[in-house]
Amino acid sequence: MRRKMVVGNWKMNGSIATNKVLLDGLVAGVHGYDNSDYVVCVPYPYLCQAQQLLQDTNVAWGGQNLCSTKNGALTGAVAPHMLTDYGCTHVLIGHSERRSQFHETDDTAAARFLAAQQAGITPIFCMGETAEERESDWTDYIVGRQLDSLIRRFGANVLDNAVLAYEPLWAVGTGKPATPEQAQEVHAFIRDRIAKLDYEVAASVRILYGGSVTGANAEQLFEMPDIDGGLIGRASLKAEDFVPICRAAHATATRCLATAKP
Ligand code: PGA
Repeated sequence: MRRKMVVGNWKMNGSIATNKVLLDGLVAGVHGYDNSDYVVCVPYPYLCQAQQLLQDTNVAWGGQNLCSTKNGALTGAVAPHMLTDYGCTHVLIGHSERRSQFHETDDTAAARFLAAQQAGITPIFCMGETAEERESDWTDYIVGRQLDSLIRRFGANVLDNAVLAYEPLWAVGTGKPATPEQAQEVHAFIRDRIAKLDYEVAASVRILYGGSVTGANAEQLFEMPDIDGGLIGRASLKAEDFVPICRAAHATATRCLATAKP
């Protein structure tokens, strides 16, 4: 059975002082919730603080991007080993804000994805369509193309140690989440497309939903059969908002485990 997972994406937010309050509250809030996984993806300067406050807890930490090159004359870039130096286990790849505001493409996202895996970091690969694309009925085409940039190029096995995230752009940061049924439909499409290449990988890979998830809607989303948790932006910035989402994952996982028992 796939473990539920909740990932906080702080984006360009935080300070030493506010991070401490948030992380202390998060650690206390998810203590003992051991049937699901929790991760925070923080701005690079705060990786050291995350490492200090989260080591020996059940919350992992990661970066929001990395460079696909190991070392060199690349001003402003951060290499994969720099993330592992600070204990990162996860990294976001191909987030829509990177694609739309920093001109990242399917090709560069694929290269970063591979570089993360080669460094032993689990990539969380983001996909999603714009409002116009959805209105034109292009959702499957766009998400399929983004997924294919990995699985057609590297084979479905590349998802063995990876997490996928469906984040429709019209739901990210808008306060207008996809309905559980809308999200489920795309998650099932993603899983089916992988299953055409490798059934086992499709059955085991975790697919998170992201886009205006809150404590009020998380449980209904996480209960859908192909939604394995959430990638959370705004609601990950305060423990009082983020912990209820983690609790929703824990509660859903607890129910799934109970019904799975003979
Ligand atoms: P949101 O962001 O939860 O603020 O919509 C999600 C994301 O961008 O990962």
